[in-house]
Amino acid sequence: MLQTISETNKNFSNEISQVSDLKQLENLRIKYLSRKGIIATLFEDLKTVPKEDKPAVGKSLNELRNSVQTQFDTLKEKLEALSGNNKQAVDFTLPGRGKSVGSKHILIQTLDEIKTIFRGLGFSIAEGPELESDYNNFSALNFAPDHPARDMQDTFFINKDYLLRTHTSPVQIRVMQNQQPPVRAIMPGKVYRNEAISARSYCLFHQVEGLCVDKGVTFAELKGTLVSFARQFYGSGFKYRFRPSFFPFTEPSAEMDITCFLCKGKGCRMCKQTGWLEILGCGMVDPNVFKNVGYDSEKYTGYAFGMGIERIAILKYDIPDIRLYFENDLRFLKQF
Ligand code: DAH
Repeated sequence: MLQTISETNKNFSNEISQVSDLKQLENLRIKYLSRKGIIATLFEDLKTVPKEDKPAVGKSLNELRNSVQTQFDTLKEKLEALSGNNKQAVDFTLPGRGKSVGSKHILIQTLDEIKTIFRGLGFSIAEGPELESDYNNFSALNFAPDHPARDMQDTFFINKDYLLRTHTSPVQIRVMQNQQPPVRAIMPGKVYRNEAISARSYCLFHQVEGLCVDKGVTFAELKGTLVSFARQFYGSGFKYRFRPSFFPFTEPSAEMDITCFLCKGKGCRMCKQTGWLEILGCGMVDPNVFKNVGYDSEKYTGYAFGMGIERIAILKYDIPDIRLYFENDLRFLKQF
């Protein structure tokens, strides 16, 4: 019996190798695999095999059937594809499969919008490195030697003299070191702070810095520029105010608030019941900063401002947790 099985196997291999169309293949199927075919007959014969041989013969018979079936299926698929008969493989009436195209991250979209608005106001775009000197990040910007931001707790120091920049303001220094007034530039980029990660703070975020220096630049111009920016970015349905503040590199300094979107100024969780949302810091460039870059502060005045992009977008789109920006969860990203 084992002999017969092995011969059947050989015969089938031989015959299938000569099949060249579906009709011949169907004949071969009937001969070997149909209910009265050779293999079914062999299974019938299994009954007559002595009991002790049954397991071995049965096993070999099963192998034969599987091998024949597989060879048959493979060739059938091939022949169908060749003859164009395979309706399942190609159905030209089906709609095409859409390619899913990626989109810009919401932070990049927000940054692009900010850039477009400031370009329209006559600002160019400058960039600086994320690994910055302590001098550019702090000293040149008039931070006192014992300022708390210089603490390792707040800043990622690389060594004594270098750090990951904590804000984009050092790019102001680089721009002024390389260029004489007039200057009108915005400076976007990543900044780093050694903070505990939570819904409200992250060790990395993005800022846009702004700088304008020329003869006779005034605080009124600063206000005009920033109000124009905010109107274009947030629309006209809000009030704004400038609140006195302090930054080492500007004097006087201010923070700009706009009416809270959520409660329209009535007071809610978003604005911590004040009715106002802070959107940026700004001020007139401190004469000490001009001195550090070799500008004549008798001749020139200027203003500067800085805003966090995550914060700006959090306020515009009511995003509940800053970590969402960095987790790359498509369910979040696809909403924008
Ligand atoms: N560098 C400040 C910060 O990180 C933001 C800032 C405030 C920038 C006032 C400025 C400015 O240029 O004038 O909080």
